[in-house]
Amino acid sequence: MKNNMKEMIDEIKRMKQQKNAVIVAHNYQIDEVQDIADVVGDSFTLSQYCASTDADVVVFCGVHFMAESAKILSPEKTVLLPEIDAGCPMADMITAEALIEEKKKHPNAAVVCYINTSAEVKAECDICCTSSNAIRVIESIPNDEIIFAPDLNLGGYVAKHFPNKTFHIWQGYCITHHRVVKDDVVKAKQAHPDALLLAHPECRQEVIDMADFVGSTSKIIEYAKNDPHDKFIIATEMGILHKLKNDSPHKTFYLLTPKFICPNMKKTKLESVYNALKFDRYQIELDEDIINRARKSLEAMLSV
Ligand code: 13P
Ligand code: SF4
Repeated sequence: MKNNMKEMIDEIKRMKQQKNAVIVAHNYQIDEVQDIADVVGDSFTLSQYCASTDADVVVFCGVHFMAESAKILSPEKTVLLPEIDAGCPMADMITAEALIEEKKKHPNAAVVCYINTSAEVKAECDICCTSSNAIRVIESIPNDEIIFAPDLNLGGYVAKHFPNKTFHIWQGYCITHHRVVKDDVVKAKQAHPDALLLAHPECRQEVIDMADFVGSTSKIIEYAKNDPHDKFIIATEMGILHKLKNDSPHKTFYLLTPKFICPNMKKTKLESVYNALKFDRYQIELDEDIINRARKSLEAMLSV
């Protein structure tokens, strides 16, 4: 490790202690950022952690909707997003106004929003979900009709588990997962015939249909660790390989395709974390009314 890198890490640790801060990182973050974090996890683990920590400051290494969710769950804390333009194109595929119009079309439907949505959209929904609990969340809803937004792939995957419910699925998608197609899977399976395929539910149905296991990023890591197989093809964003290899050093992981890269998740560098703590930037600020309404749907999810 270069000296200046070591100095930066030491300084991050010092400022963290001085400000009573925690650093949380999503499983897609770059290796150096994951290594400096107090917690690395999927969207569900990180929101649970942010709701329970007694730190004064949360440095959220991920994308905008994740830092917003942390702020909604802990409005009294300072929540910092180190790179202000680290957004999620899928979350931008639905607005609160568009969801209000959709609700008018289906007045008897319960509204389930993937956590990959803005605070304003969360304020319009009944309950949130992540890719790790979506099925349990739908199970907890008595309504026969569900509006599911915004991911068409996660929505389609979940709807298959509930043939007796009617789903109105928003047609948003993750650009990183949606560009991977069946042909990519066929090629990867030909190259590694004895490897299991582990896929994220943001993948297209045709990819999910060929998977041995489907789950959130943390569920994929857990599965690979506990399963007796020693070779896995990974169908989600490449950042996950760091924790997969750390947790299961004797196993082999093949990224299904180099297309699995989320540019927004790659914006946060070690220097971004350093600057976030040094300059208290970029603070997430939300309207109080939005926080109160959005918190109900996140807390409903956490209580399932
Ligand atoms: P999870 O980490 O919850 O599986 O979500 C992946 C994701 O879409 C992050 O943007
Ligand atoms: Fe959004 Fe997809 Fe990137 Fe996750 S991987 S932050 S869903 S664009």
